[in-house]
Amino acid sequence: MWSLHEQAVTMASANALCMNPGDKDISYANHSSVQKNILLKIRPFLEDTITDMLNKILPISFIKVADLGCASGPNTFFPTFEIVDTITRVCQQSNVDSPELQVFLNDLPHNDFNTIFRSIPSFHERLKKDKGDLMVPCFIVGVPGSFYERLFPTRSMHFVHSANCLHWLSKVPRGVENNKGNIYMSKSSSDDVFKAYSKQFQMDFSKFLRFRSEEVIEGGQMLLALLGRNITDPTNKDCFPIWDLLTKSLFDLVAKGLVQESDVDSFNIPFYTPCQKEVREIIEKEGSFNLERMEVFEENWDFEDNDYNTNFVFEKNRSGQNVAKTVRAVIESMLANHFGESIIDDLFTIYAYHRLHEIQQAMAMASVNALCMNSIDKDISYANNSSLQKNILLKTRPFLEDAIKDIHVEVVLC
Ligand SMILES: C[S@@+](CC[C@H](N)C(=O)[O-])C[C@H]1O[C@@H](n2cnc3c(N)ncnc32)[C@H](O)[C@@H]1O
Repeated sequence: MWSLHEQAVTMASANALCMNPGDKDISYANHSSVQKNILLKIRPFLEDTITDMLNKILPISFIKVADLGCASGPNTFFPTFEIVDTITRVCQQSNVDSPELQVFLNDLPHNDFNTIFRSIPSFHERLKKDKGDLMVPCFIVGVPGSFYERLFPTRSMHFVHSANCLHWLSKVPRGVENNKGNIYMSKSSSDDVFKAYSKQFQMDFSKFLRFRSEEVIEGGQMLLALLGRNITDPTNKDCFPIWDLLTKSLFDLVAKGLVQESDVDSFNIPFYTPCQKEVREIIEKEGSFNLERMEVFEENWDFEDNDYNTNFVFEKNRSGQNVAKTVRAVIESMLANHFGESIIDDLFTIYAYHRLHEIQQAMAMASVNALCMNSIDKDISYANNSSLQKNILLKTRPFLEDAIKDIHVEVVLC
């Protein structure tokens, strides 16, 4: 039986998940360049998936697409811009009229939707400037809610996109209450903790796939990118060095008397970094989508140290600050909810310090799973689902042939 205290701890952490809004010093909008670098890396997947889909369904009068876990900031409109761009190009090449586009931007209800709505006119301006007369009419709607629930009507969506989100679980897993000294799976966590995290991911991701399969049209496409781990056995190594540094920083505050050790023990992040094999197995077992393509790539936690930045020069202090701000923009609300606002500045000053002194953690890269899927045709017509009956007919064929031969012989004889 789960105690009320344990339930409260679990729910409080999960409910507090919210990227830092625009009015925070370290907002997600201004500190999401690592996620932007990931969006840039999956751009070719996005172009290919949309092109494939259009080649199957054009000409068509409208297309509905959803971006799940859109947050708020420049990244929010990035996938939409790329989709409009691809639709414009493909329609021009195929010489057909562009369909109208309806875009559903989804996130949890606490997300900063006001900032998104205020940015829609300038996004339209940008599209007009870039595309001129060729602009695809684009209607943007906000959809607050969890992607672990149904979000859209049955068979209404042509394409679903979600980047940098599905590693967030629906809640802190049941069974991690004894993960003392850790805030996530770590080398010193017990087997039960690893199992509980993995089981929660299996349940959440399966639910996500099932609900999306009800919402997408037959043959609808989906592109997902989520953080993962590049080792299959999670007990073998620290699973997510970014959280190990946070644990270490929290314990420094415990040593200074600013944080209670019991508060660290009761804090667990509703987050899971699956390996490639786990993701593949869940998709196969759930059975609603065909996995067309899956790739794993690495991304640096310091956004300035990336493939596109040819002028990059490593500077220890700056790198530590960059990573601390990236992490803070994502996790501050959850930490403030559990430990109080007052520790946040000290915590991330220490975090930046550790990041630049811990060589092993400083070198660690984010591992990203990128997946392209299409929904499996759930045609249940007799015409397409009667193989069993066909096999019976095949088995009775010799009897039928003999019977016809007999009739023939009788006819010839008389
Ligand atoms: C790191 S941000 C990614 C934002 C954006 N897609 C990007 O690539 O920059 C993760 C987002 O996922 C959202 N999120 C997490 N769990 C969610 C859920 N169950 N339903 C909807 N959104 C969720 C968070 O609120 C957050 O805005």
